[in-house]
Amino acid sequence: MTVALAALTACGGGAAPAAGGSADAGSSDSSASSGGGKKVAVAMPTQSSERWMHDGANMKAQLEELGYTVDLQYAEDDVQAQVSQIENMIAAGANCLVIAAIDSDALVNVEAQAKEAGIPVIAYDRLLMNTDAVSYYATFDNKGVGTKIGEYIVQHCGATPENPQTIELFMGSPDDNNAHMLYAGLMEQIQPLLDDGSLVCKSGQTDFESNNTLRWDQQTAMKRCEDLLTRYYADDELDICACAYDGLSYGCMSALEGAGYTDANWPLITGQDAELMATKHIISGKQTMSIYKDTRLLASKCVTMVQAVLEGAKPEINDTEQYNNGKIVVPSYLCEPVPVDKDNYKEVIIGGGYYTEEQLAE
Ligand code: BGC
Repeated sequence: MTVALAALTACGGGAAPAAGGSADAGSSDSSASSGGGKKVAVAMPTQSSERWMHDGANMKAQLEELGYTVDLQYAEDDVQAQVSQIENMIAAGANCLVIAAIDSDALVNVEAQAKEAGIPVIAYDRLLMNTDAVSYYATFDNKGVGTKIGEYIVQHCGATPENPQTIELFMGSPDDNNAHMLYAGLMEQIQPLLDDGSLVCKSGQTDFESNNTLRWDQQTAMKRCEDLLTRYYADDELDICACAYDGLSYGCMSALEGAGYTDANWPLITGQDAELMATKHIISGKQTMSIYKDTRLLASKCVTMVQAVLEGAKPEINDTEQYNNGKIVVPSYLCEPVPVDKDNYKEVIIGGGYYTEEQLAE
């Protein structure tokens, strides 16, 4: 926590993350920094989720500040559209590709094309699977996200074998390595409580195959939650929605409202990304917690990797073991995710300059 807060403080001003506040971009060697008009292409998954808008805007701002030309494109969660975008980026003469994949396995061919053309590839937030074309990976500690959600549930739900609580899991997309890692971190924390009967998953859907959500889609989570409430909670209440992302939390909230849940029996609901709306929900009590990921910091780490492959600078790496993509172990920098709830959002989110008090009050 100390480290994370220090990093946040280092992020400095910039009211909104998308404003391009350059986290600790100072740690990248700005003296070696004239991008000399080199073209960096950035492929992002979707504009439908707030975090990716911030990621794209931060990457563009920080790269442009260093003199690079930036080609930023979003593929709206359409796997084929992302493949075509990357093909076009290669054809248009990109000098470096930064990719946040929609389906981490689906890009193997375009990555091979990039390698063939001598264009270095950097994985952004999501690991690129089954390719040796990727040089570096900038991300958050993805298992740590799950661990922190799990720890939060264990510490705050008050469940014991004498006073059991019901729980359902709404996990991420099966084609995203992050979703698997998050699930592993979460289960490590809550499995002992499931084993001793403190937590009860009435649907029995504790395995990732049955509780994942393709493309992290809000509507899919809403429908699944509606279905679970009807089938398993007609005579009982759901106490905990363990959601892997804020969008899934919104889906569960709609389902719970539709099923007549009120303040009196509202569940503990987790999330990830600390989106503006989620943070407002945390303040109002509708969502219990989220995981804050400072996209300015992530962008700054990724930018040092771009500089490394283009200018021969040395990027900071803090993990050379965890991220085996099936072909190689990708040298990675893991930023620290920070849990936020109503007790610490002021210090972490407002204090870190991520959202202003005014934005949260609107
Ligand atoms: C990211 C999360 C995000 C999710 C849905 C994951 O790959 O790591 O921060 O919530 O995708 O967009």
